[in-house]
Amino acid sequence: ASTLAAAAQQSGRYFGTAVAANKLGDSTYVGILNREFDMVTAENEMKMDATEPNQGQFSYGNADRIVNQARNQGKRVRGHALAWHSQQPGWMQNMSGTALRNAMLNHVTQVATYYRGKIYAWDVVNEAYADGSSGGRRDSNLQRTGNDWIEAAFRAARAADPNAKLCYNDYNTDNWSHAKTQGVYRMVQDFKSRGVPIDCVGFQAHFNSGNPVPSNYHTTLQNFANLGVDVQITELDIEGSGSTQAQQYQGVVQACLAVTRCTGITVWGIRDTDSWRASGTPLLFDGSGNKKAAYNSVLSVL
Ligand code: XIL
Repeated sequence: ASTLAAAAQQSGRYFGTAVAANKLGDSTYVGILNREFDMVTAENEMKMDATEPNQGQFSYGNADRIVNQARNQGKRVRGHALAWHSQQPGWMQNMSGTALRNAMLNHVTQVATYYRGKIYAWDVVNEAYADGSSGGRRDSNLQRTGNDWIEAAFRAARAADPNAKLCYNDYNTDNWSHAKTQGVYRMVQDFKSRGVPIDCVGFQAHFNSGNPVPSNYHTTLQNFANLGVDVQITELDIEGSGSTQAQQYQGVVQACLAVTRCTGITVWGIRDTDSWRASGTPLLFDGSGNKKAAYNSVLSVL
């Protein structure tokens, strides 16, 4: 196959990218998007601050531009993200207790209902575990509403969009020996044992020299899959260049391909100049839209 999407489809998987609504007028960007990818994640446009800027007033213009562009091109969409401690609208940031819990649940219900039937998988909850050695939850206004806030969000999402896959998504959960990975694993294990509706776990996979691709990545993905959930690589980028970067990308793709329930890979942007990383060259296309060594290494192994 000669594109990332077509190559991924050979094994029943997808290859996606994050998309920014304000770049949909850039013909180089859209050309690569339409050619190479078959799954789209809105980089910011479906987050809580974008979709509910004022409490009870929902705003879907930029999200719809991305969803409609993708669906018109026959691509699927990952919904990102219904509940998160970050990128909350101002009105939510200082809320607490029952009022915040209800506002969060209403947000999940409203947004998932609006897009019902159009989303392959929702990141229902994003980044709820703490970094470091605790293996516990991240402190946040949402966490302070009670430890059951995550399962409440998943139940609300299932009720609103019963056919979408419901995912938990996080970063630094790639290394099997890290406490954060173990904490998320125990939560998924608990949800499955109690019938809390969860279908998938997303691994953001933002890698750099301080946070390299772990040698046990395949083990991590397989252990989660063995709990009875799909796994996906949801926000892949790897700092670096040349053959070193290309090999690291290849390792991530091979880890996914080796796990039957690893259903797809999404990179967090198209060209290096589209990356959220202020400096660096972490993506598969250079600033001019040319394929990098990392692109060729990924395509060759898919
Ligand atoms: C990032 C976007 O790429 C930036 O444009 C924005 O300023 C901040 O958020 N984890 C996530 C993504 O789940 O939503 C984040 O996206 C990157 C880290």
